Amino acid sequence: MASRKGNGKSSNDGKGSNDGKGSNVSNKMWGGLFDESPDAIMEEINVSIDVDRHLYAQDITASKAHAAMLAKQGIITAKDAKNIAGGLDTILSEITKGSFTFKRALEDIHMNVESRLGELIGPASGRLHTARSRNDQVATDFRLFVRDTIDEIDAAFASLQRALVDRALEHADTVMPGFTHLQTAQPVTFGHHLLAYVEMVSRDRGRFADARKRLNESPLGAAALAGTSFPIDRHATAKALGFDRPMANSLDAVSDRDFVLETLSAASIAAVHLSRFAEEIVIWTSPLVGLVRLSDKFTTGSSIMPQKRNPDAAELVRAKTGRVIGSLTGLLIVMKGLPLAYQKDMQEDKAGAMEAYSALSLAIRAIAGMVRDLVPNEERMKLAAGEGYATATDLADWLVRTLKMPFREAHHVTGRIVGTATKKGVALHELDLKEMQAVEPKITAEVMKVLSVESSVKSRVSYGGTAPKNVTSQAKAWLKRLEKERKLG
Ligand code: ARG
Repeated sequence: MASRKGNGKSSNDGKGSNDGKGSNVSNKMWGGLFDESPDAIMEEINVSIDVDRHLYAQDITASKAHAAMLAKQGIITAKDAKNIAGGLDTILSEITKGSFTFKRALEDIHMNVESRLGELIGPASGRLHTARSRNDQVATDFRLFVRDTIDEIDAAFASLQRALVDRALEHADTVMPGFTHLQTAQPVTFGHHLLAYVEMVSRDRGRFADARKRLNESPLGAAALAGTSFPIDRHATAKALGFDRPMANSLDAVSDRDFVLETLSAASIAAVHLSRFAEEIVIWTSPLVGLVRLSDKFTTGSSIMPQKRNPDAAELVRAKTGRVIGSLTGLLIVMKGLPLAYQKDMQEDKAGAMEAYSALSLAIRAIAGMVRDLVPNEERMKLAAGEGYATATDLADWLVRTLKMPFREAHHVTGRIVGTATKKGVALHELDLKEMQAVEPKITAEVMKVLSVESSVKSRVSYGGTAPKNVTSQAKAWLKRLEKERKLG
């Protein structure tokens, strides 16, 4: 029963270990066959408790559902089931209180809980694992965990949308430059810009909701891979755990990690959206641009340059995208070569995913915080909106509408007028009517009305366009929708 000498020494000196390292007992759970206890390196590579301890609540909930079903089906006695449930409740409160000792020698959350159950209620604890394997157990726990995570992320997204909509309503007619190629293109409203992100977040929420639907089937009772000979009721445990139904194929049930990949894909796209917004905040707050000021709460200073206001939160949101996408590619690579059914490789699904979910959740909250109290520099925005002849399209449109000129010709005429203004170093509305008429004699004084940035945005009333009244009505519709959703909550 002695652990292999020599090899054990090459372990990493107890790094991260709290107990049980190099223990002299062979594993309690499968000790029947084994004479020697695992090498310290074996234990180190195999242990997952530091990560899967986060599944404790789901593990206990699923075990309680399993035990109740076993009793109902007459597979274990009602008395044993009651003791098991009581013991599991004690463990839950020990873990929440922080008095539970997680043992690395017991590898993972499942064996930590079961072992403690043995200490608490004795041999009846050994009946809990009837008709179950850690393979269906971990798949069940992680599905429950990811489902909870989706719900948390969805709530965070909803409050981000709320923040965006509130600010959009407030700035429905704040004019700012709209860009293509990061060149001033046409004036838009700040509210319209913010509502663009409300739409993007709405699609993100849709992707998570869609993943949640497919996730919501129960693997429990698939056992190791082939099902079980005990008369279990998988429909009952599925229902007790809030799943829509049991998974139909036991091999698929224990080897599927699509639910993690799907949520990480949704998370990656969402993180990319947040990153684009973060990048805009970084650009807008640069003194070279100066369109927006972040509040002190979401800004840091420099240790050497007293004038600096750094948008660290936005930069970190941008960077967190790497973790999220990294976790998706990491798991895709873990899964790509795995034959059915469970393989230990799959234990590597959790750390990256959990890290990605928390990174995303933090990024959503950070963006929402910045949105809630950023201050747009309205004067500077308006000025910048008019720079670079941003109302040239309005002039061309006027020529088409009023003089019935074909658009291509209007484009050409406008180009020449912009050329005149450029030479003079003035904006379009600062040109004399005569100077415009030198290019196109039919132009009348009426044209001046369409050349201001305000009239430009006001005129963009096509569905989905930037006109303040569109923005106001869309923002109000979103408010209603979010409010309704919150009430249904
Ligand atoms: N810790 C394991 C995991 O996360 C639990 C399942 C272990 N199953 C097994 N057959 N060794 O995947």
